This record gives sequence, C-alpha cells and structure tokens, in this order.
Amino acid sequence: WRIIRLTEVGSTNDYAREIAEDVPEGTVVIARRQRAGRGRKGRNWVSPEGGLWMTAILKPRSSPEHIPKLVFVGALAVVDTLARYGIPAEIKWPNDVLVDGKKIAGILSECKLNSFALLGIGLNVNNRVPEELRDLAVSMAELIGRELKLEGVLDALLRSLSYWYSLFKSGQHGKILQSVRTRSSVLGKDVVILEDGEVVLRGRAVGIDDSGALLVDTGESVERVIYGDVSLRF
Ligand code: BTN
Repeated sequence: WRIIRLTEVGSTNDYAREIAEDVPEGTVVIARRQRAGRGRKGRNWVSPEGGLWMTAILKPRSSPEHIPKLVFVGALAVVDTLARYGIPAEIKWPNDVLVDGKKIAGILSECKLNSFALLGIGLNVNNRVPEELRDLAVSMAELIGRELKLEGVLDALLRSLSYWYSLFKSGQHGKILQSVRTRSSVLGKDVVILEDGEVVLRGRAVGIDDSGALLVDTGESVERVIYGDVSLRF
C-alpha cells in the first residue's frame, strides 16, 4: 500500500477518483476529517477527527460481474480488524458492519468499469458518535473504554484488506461469499427491504447467492435483492 495522508478533504472517495487513473493500484487516500463524507445512496457520512476515513484505489481487472462483491472485501477486512481488538462484529448486507446491532463502519465501493474501483471505508475509532445516533452507532473507543492509536488500526485494516483482496484477485469469490455468509447479521431473520424509504419486499433472508445478491423468501417465492436497505422486521 502507498498512503496519501490528508488533513482535510471533501471526501476521500472523490479525491481518490480524481487521481485514480494516474496512480498505481494500492494507493490509499486517508484523511483526518472529511467535510462532505458520503455514504451509500448519496447519504451524508459524518466524519470528524478521530475516525478512520480512507479510500483504497484498486485495479482488479476482473470481469464486471464480480465488482459488486468488492464491498464484501472491505466489510470482511473491517470485521477481521475489529476481531483483533476483541470486538465481535457482523456484516449487515450489503455494506454495513455492526456490533450488537449498532453501526461501527460502512463501506462505499464505486468503480469506473475497466479502469479502477474505489473502496471507501469509514470506521468509527475515537470519534464521538453524535447524541442523536447513539442508539444506532458506536465507536471502537467506546467499546474498548479507551482511545486507540489510529495508525495501529489502519495497519491492521490494510493487512486484512491485503488478504481479502488477494482472494478476490485470484478469483476465490466463493471463499469471500462463504465468509460473508457466516458473518452475516441478517441471514435467517425476518426482514423488510426498503428502497428510497418504501417497503418493497417482506420475507425471511435465506441466503446470499454467488453474485452477492440477498435471497429473500416471501413465502411465495424467493426473490433476489441487489439494491435496497435491509431492516429487521418487527
Ligand atoms: C455507508 O455506510 O453508506 C458507507 C459509508 C462510507 C464512508 C466512507 S469514509 C471514507 C470514504 N469517503 C467517503 O466519502 N465515504 C467513505
């Protein structure tokens, strides 16, 4: 990995996109804070100092059908990193990492087909979770009870990322998917699928297929979900 460190940026994904074609694969952009951090579906991602906000520039040269599975490479790397710190985490399909149902990290993968892919990772490390999000989000420092060295977390994350990305590059997508299945927080549970805030499907999450789609059994049929938010049904 070759690391570009910024004090402040709009979004590390946007910065990475600007330079992606001119830098080698494995370049990582990391910023102490982001003014306009982005989440999935154009959502805002609050990124104050203390968190780990980074984007890895990848050039996988794999066939386009595999690209959606890159998000799992990021999610698995985060789960492994948390495990090193003694924090058991789960993946909420497709791109959230949760601890006890609370979000600790999010992955934002974007790509320019046949050129590059961006793996944006936001991990709450020492940053304070705003009051209004306390029921929904958590940080590593809060769970461990002390502040952590951001460099150590970055180091662990990049190591795990190397491992999972090497599997991706060598075509071992099955291994990646199998790991996502065993670390999934939604499989076997009753869920609703939301698209732009509207309920589009209700059923039981029964699997993740080889393309990375979530399989939802509605009682009448098994539907493949490739877009949308999952919410546990209650
Ligand atoms: C999500 O949960 O919807 C994804 C959140 C991704 C946040 C990270 S922080 C680093 C990178 N730069 C961004 O603007 N977003 C990602």
